[in-house]
Amino acid sequence: TSLLPYNTFGLDVRARYFARFASVAELRALLQLPEVQAAPKLILGGGSNLLFTQDFDGVVLKNEIRGLEIIADDPTTDTVLLRAGAGESWHGLVEYSLGQDLSGLENLSLIPGTVGAAPLQNIGAYGAELRDTFERLEAVEISTGAVREFTAEECAFGYRESVFKNVLKGQFVVTAVLFQLHRQGQPNVRYGDIQTTLAEQGVTGPPTPQQVSRAVVHIRRSKLPDPAQIGNAGSFFKNPEIPQAQYDALKARHPELPGYPVPGGVKVPAGWLIERAGWKGQRRGPGAGTHGVHDRQALVLVHLGGARGGELLGLARDIIASVREQFGVELHPEVNIL
Ligand code: EPU
Repeated sequence: TSLLPYNTFGLDVRARYFARFASVAELRALLQLPEVQAAPKLILGGGSNLLFTQDFDGVVLKNEIRGLEIIADDPTTDTVLLRAGAGESWHGLVEYSLGQDLSGLENLSLIPGTVGAAPLQNIGAYGAELRDTFERLEAVEISTGAVREFTAEECAFGYRESVFKNVLKGQFVVTAVLFQLHRQGQPNVRYGDIQTTLAEQGVTGPPTPQQVSRAVVHIRRSKLPDPAQIGNAGSFFKNPEIPQAQYDALKARHPELPGYPVPGGVKVPAGWLIERAGWKGQRRGPGAGTHGVHDRQALVLVHLGGARGGELLGLARDIIASVREQFGVELHPEVNIL
């Protein structure tokens, strides 16, 4: 089966086996098949955080578990519990919550991918992260088929991190995620670009969740390529965290270097380092180029058509080496490389 329709980089690789499941029962039945048990498994959501560098010699299981449902609504504490099937589109979930006049997810508007993939890397953007509204998730253990719940604490969320990328990597399939949202919540507009955009859009006073969502959608469309038009997987690298002393030394050489304090050091924007290393808008490959670095956001690698995953990985490695050489900072991919 070609995986071309199932990865937003638009790479034409093949999988040995491909199957979809639309319920926990279907997933558990698949996990009992001997050919599935024997093969390496890849659980696929929206394919928006993946770089395939070769064919996948195993079974791809595509999560298509649907369902959006308010399962508790308590006016005294102003909390609403929303349960979402893991195969729902993330932005579909955000729109549903806004349609119900709920706040909490508006800053995470327009992020590609599915609900089930979101906790794996604790998706975040514009001043919010999944963990801010996460209540718990439901998952199936691959080796046993057992159903298990995980609290936020058990998920061990960090910056683009969770237990499912570390000690429990490859062991569970997320089947549903529950969010705790609010009807009277104060939208979070700490992120400077949101304030600027709201002002441009003529919003005065405290914005509604819908207005914040509209601002976020506007900002994302202005910087990030639409995967339906240009192959990409969003930020290719994580923003590195470096010790304070290293930051101070870099800042002395580059006074314009941005930085945000984090426990144990300073987080610097990888996009800034990559742009300063001269990569922004670079193209590689024949003709006008087949792949390169996005011209409006240097953290995003783009596939313009006709490149192979290995070439994108080669570009990523060259960027890592060049940033290391010029700034002494090590970049780490945020995208899953297979
Ligand atoms: N910058 C540059 N040049 C660039 C890009 C960024 O100099 O080409 C510098 C600027 O100083 C800018 C700063 O980096 O002020 C921050 O840029 P931006 O607001 O675009 O955010 P980011 O740090 O590059 C992160 C997330 C994005 C998320 C945005 C908004 C990571 C790895 N990426 O990017 O997430 O949308 O913040 O909150 O943390 C994703 O994960 O796929 C993703 C798009």
